[in-house]
Amino acid sequence: MSEDSRPPLPPPAALVEGDLTLHGRVMPASNATFVGEIGDLRVVYKPVRGEKPLWDFPDHSLAGREVAAYELSAALGWDVVPTTVLREGPHGPGMVQAWCEVDAEQAAVDIVPGDEVPDGWRHVFDGLDAEDRPVALIHEDTPVLRRMAVFDLVANNADRKGGHVLEMPGGHRHGIDHGLTFHHEPKLRTVLWGWAGEPLAEDEIGGLADLVEALQGDLGESLSHLVRVDEVAATLRRCRRLLEEPVFPTPSGEWPAIPWPPF
Ligand SMILES: Nc1ncnc2c1ncn2[C@@H]1O[C@H](COP(=O)(O)OP(=O)(O)O)[C@@H](O)[C@H]1O
Ligand SMILES: [Mg+2]
Repeated sequence: MSEDSRPPLPPPAALVEGDLTLHGRVMPASNATFVGEIGDLRVVYKPVRGEKPLWDFPDHSLAGREVAAYELSAALGWDVVPTTVLREGPHGPGMVQAWCEVDAEQAAVDIVPGDEVPDGWRHVFDGLDAEDRPVALIHEDTPVLRRMAVFDLVANNADRKGGHVLEMPGGHRHGIDHGLTFHHEPKLRTVLWGWAGEPLAEDEIGGLADLVEALQGDLGESLSHLVRVDEVAATLRRCRRLLEEPVFPTPSGEWPAIPWPPF
């Protein structure tokens, strides 16, 4: 399937309407994460009640952050985040997200032996495997993954692990698990550091410029019901700063740059 012919994601209304039936839990998962169905749509459901408390994010706020991440993605128009809504479910209110059927043969983020970074890939860091052999964490160098990295800069994503990048059959990539986003303090933790120090592309800058507008209008208004008002203001500041200096940042060293474990 080519990227252009991939099936469209359901509109938010399709996920809000209809009964949600659960089929099971996703394991392993750090929060209570269920798989279910609304009509013939397969969905993920994370009830607020099942959120694991964290020291640095307010309790019961992760579902709202996941929906805020979807709204930011929708405003950007890059289709990073699958359709996500807040609604009632069998375990109370929570976030419901369209399930994406991935292509298990593809890997956008990978660990390879030694320093063999293949063509078309970007190097993130070197380490040792369980037998002390050198390995490298790498990710693909594609426009669609770059856009996800730009999205993460704006959303201040503190949890972009390899497993939070879904490889879709036609080559598209969706990002998932956006509960740790929109903090007012810098917290970017990601495996997508492969473009650090490089200038943003024209379309990426264009997307950020559109976001500055949107954040001062409808998007800012809708985000303010999902995350704190100071977090919406910080999002606008991050966009503006990126437009002033349109370059992928390098890790600051002030906090862990890579989520652990990275997958
Ligand atoms: N929208 C989705 N489409 C397909 N698979 C998903 C989706 N959301 C989650 N998953 C699967 O469920 C796993 C756990 O979901 P995740 O959002 O990471 O939950 P947690 O917050 O518990 O870490 C993911 O690693 C992925 O395999
Ligand atoms: Mg996760």
